[in-house]
Amino acid sequence: VDKQQQEQPPKPKQRNLLDNASNLLTNFLSGGNLGAMPVAEGAVTDLFGKPLFFSLYDWFLEHGSVYKLAFGPKSFVVVSDPIVARHILRENAFCYDKGVLAEILKPIMGKGLIPADLDTWKQRRKVITPGFHALFIEAMVRIFTKCSERTISKLEELTESEGQVLLDLEAEFSNLALDIIGLGVFNFDFDSVTKESPVIKAVYGTLFEAEHRSTFYIPYWNIPLTKWIVPRQRKFHSDLKVINDCLDNLIKNAKETRQEADVEKLQQRDYSSLKDVSLLRFLVDMRGADVDDRQLRDDLMTMLIAGHETTAAVLTWSVFLLAQSPTRMRKAQAEVDSVLSNGAITVESLKKLEYIKLIILESLRLYPQPPLLIRRSLRPDKLPGGYNGAKEGYEIPTGTDIFVSIYNLHRSPYFWDRPNEFEPERFSVQKKDESIEGWSGFDPNRSPGAMYPNEIIADFAFLPFGGGPRKCVGDQFAVLESTVALALLLRKFDVKLRGSPDEVEMVTGATIHTKNGLWCRLRRRT
Ligand code: HEM
Repeated sequence: VDKQQQEQPPKPKQRNLLDNASNLLTNFLSGGNLGAMPVAEGAVTDLFGKPLFFSLYDWFLEHGSVYKLAFGPKSFVVVSDPIVARHILRENAFCYDKGVLAEILKPIMGKGLIPADLDTWKQRRKVITPGFHALFIEAMVRIFTKCSERTISKLEELTESEGQVLLDLEAEFSNLALDIIGLGVFNFDFDSVTKESPVIKAVYGTLFEAEHRSTFYIPYWNIPLTKWIVPRQRKFHSDLKVINDCLDNLIKNAKETRQEADVEKLQQRDYSSLKDVSLLRFLVDMRGADVDDRQLRDDLMTMLIAGHETTAAVLTWSVFLLAQSPTRMRKAQAEVDSVLSNGAITVESLKKLEYIKLIILESLRLYPQPPLLIRRSLRPDKLPGGYNGAKEGYEIPTGTDIFVSIYNLHRSPYFWDRPNEFEPERFSVQKKDESIEGWSGFDPNRSPGAMYPNEIIADFAFLPFGGGPRKCVGDQFAVLESTVALALLLRKFDVKLRGSPDEVEMVTGATIHTKNGLWCRLRRRT
């Protein structure tokens, strides 16, 4: 039996006088405009020193699955209920935009899909979604394999002399995910696995700033003149310029090299003879010269950021969990050995890596990327009645900021057995619980032929890629990419954590990552 060393969410802590005073003040300041909704007795001090989603989990257990969190002059509604989440994300999705998130991301992503206003989003989503068609995904599998093999070769070199090496796998995954997204989205080889470059440094600098902004509650970047005066802001703007110049060049090049023959191949879905199979090529070829360069750049930047850190994080936590479970590690390796015994990875062979895929999804259940979805109501809404303390539907005034906590949904004791434990096998078991009003349980028949256990099958209790119209466009890309990378790693190496799992602390911005890296000992398999 494997030793389960899953970290448990911290217990609600005793509150002191200072906390209580600050509660009274913050609740007073926030006003009581959300009617009878329970108010979390959180204090501002709870929001520092640990990831926000830990505190949101404590308050979920204490106050139920829809509550108001007040701090400073701001208040947020925190939703941890599948029925209410389904309403906000799917049934009444266009009543909400991205609120605070858009404010943070606009300076970086402009009018890219994530922060875009609804009108721009509707236009661009229609153009971008067809880019992720089956043949594109198939062509991507070759890129996933090429880049993962480059990482594996590097690791093999590092283990050449002693048969093992100690390294930070999170950093390796981050480089790998950057290389893949660069090639897949705009046919640019960062080759960050083997070298450093000003563009790579600029990408990491920008990601760092984006993350800092998402954990900071005051939009300091909007203060006039900071762009020129504050060194950190100056660096951010110069990093952004390096990336934008690089993207502008790629767009210019893609437009100049557009050839009718390639367009015909694309229209006939003939990907085998195309040299450049990237999403940028598709967007330029299919839309001709009418694509606005600025919008295209925003789209590419959004994809670069959305598809990089998330994938690096899911690989990091998959290894973290697997390294604590030697039996499951062996089971995964046995599957990889048997499926990949004869040659190249294809979409077909990937379908047989069923257990690896479940590991990826279980990692996304325990460490969802991002842990919170952010929305703001554009007009008044009435939430449906939900489960666990949210039976009553609440009125939502215009401008209400909402966190849909995927972390809470994924670890909810009301919907998952042993919610904090790593059990990839759980997805193979059909679970139907008709006893909960409005909740229809996990039903694979709801999404026949789904590539992975998704939000439809789980009726919004499991949202690895969000749900509704703003669901991730790169979900299949990401699942296959992570499956290839994890499978190729496990085929060659046994992985052990350097120390105790407790030493691997979490920090969070847009995604959950480690504080000081995922230090592992990699040993070559014989
Ligand atoms: C949106 C997760 C990989 C592009 C989202 C959302 C989630 C998510 C939860 C919904 C956000 C919301 O509703 O507010 C993930 C995870 C990934 C991943 C966990 C990897 C494991 C990717 C990749 C790409 C991508 C590889 C692109 C190649 C996007 C875009 C959106 C999005 C463009 C915005 C969609 C829209 O608003 O229409 N992602 N993602 N993601 N993702 Fe991903």
